[in-house]
Amino acid sequence: MLEGFAEDEECDALRERVAELVSEFDPAGMVSIFSTNEQNRIADEYFMSSGDKIRFFFEENAFLPDGTLKQTKERSINKIGHALHDLDPVFNQFSRSEKIKDLATAIGFESPLLAQSMYIFKQPNIGGEVSCHQDSTFIYTEPTELVGLWFALEDATIANGCLWAIPGGHKRGLKSRWVRSENGKMQFQTFDPEPWPENELVPLEVMKGSLILLNGLLPHRSFENRSPRSRHAYTLHLIHANAKYSPDNWLQRPEPFHGF
Ligand code: FE2
Repeated sequence: MLEGFAEDEECDALRERVAELVSEFDPAGMVSIFSTNEQNRIADEYFMSSGDKIRFFFEENAFLPDGTLKQTKERSINKIGHALHDLDPVFNQFSRSEKIKDLATAIGFESPLLAQSMYIFKQPNIGGEVSCHQDSTFIYTEPTELVGLWFALEDATIANGCLWAIPGGHKRGLKSRWVRSENGKMQFQTFDPEPWPENELVPLEVMKGSLILLNGLLPHRSFENRSPRSRHAYTLHLIHANAKYSPDNWLQRPEPFHGF
C-alpha cells in the first residue's frame, strides 16, 4: 500500500473526466438491453465484448421492471470498463505516467502490458458487494503473474465499502479460473473447493490518493456501501508481455494489449 501515490489533483481529474463520460452517456440503449426477452444473452455479450471499449455497467438493482432506471444514471452505474486506459486521453495519460511505469519496473514487471482498466463507483446507499476472489481467476496467464493497481480516488473506509484482503492468502495458490467453455459460455473451473477463510479478512482503509497493489493471487473482496458517501476507485491490471495470455479468458481483444 502506497499512501499519497496520486496527487489530489490527479484523483480529481479522473473523477471529473468520468463525470463528463457519464453525462455524455445515454442509458436509453441500456434500457432496451434490460427490457428484452433476450436480456441475459445481450447483457452477456455487452460485457464479453467490452475488453477494448468504454462501457457502462449498472448496479444490479438499478432498473425497474419496465427497464427504466430507479435513480439518476449518475447514481446507478456500478463501473465503467475495460479499456479506459487505451481509449480515453485523460485515463491514458494517468495510466501511462512515468511514476506508474517506474513502479511496474520496481515490482519486476520489465515489459508490462496494460490488460484492463475499471472505474468503480461504489455508489452511496446502493453500492453492491464484490465477493471474495483472486483477480487471476479472471485474467489468467502462464506463469500466473498479474498485478492489480487499485487507486483510491476518495477515502475508502469500512463504512463506504473499502477493500478487504486475506493476508498471505496469495500463497494458497489459485482456487479457480473463469473460462470460456466450448459453447462460448463462461464457467468456473475449480481447483480448490475449500471456501475462503473470510474470518481472516482485514480491512484496507485508505486515504484518497493511496495505491493498493494486489497480487493476482491475493484473495480480496469488498462489502456493500450503505453509507451516504461514494467510494470511487480506479483499477489497472498489468500482465507480463512474455507470459502466455490464456485464450479462454473472458477478456479478448482483436488488437493486442499495449505497454506503457
Ligand atoms: Fe478484484
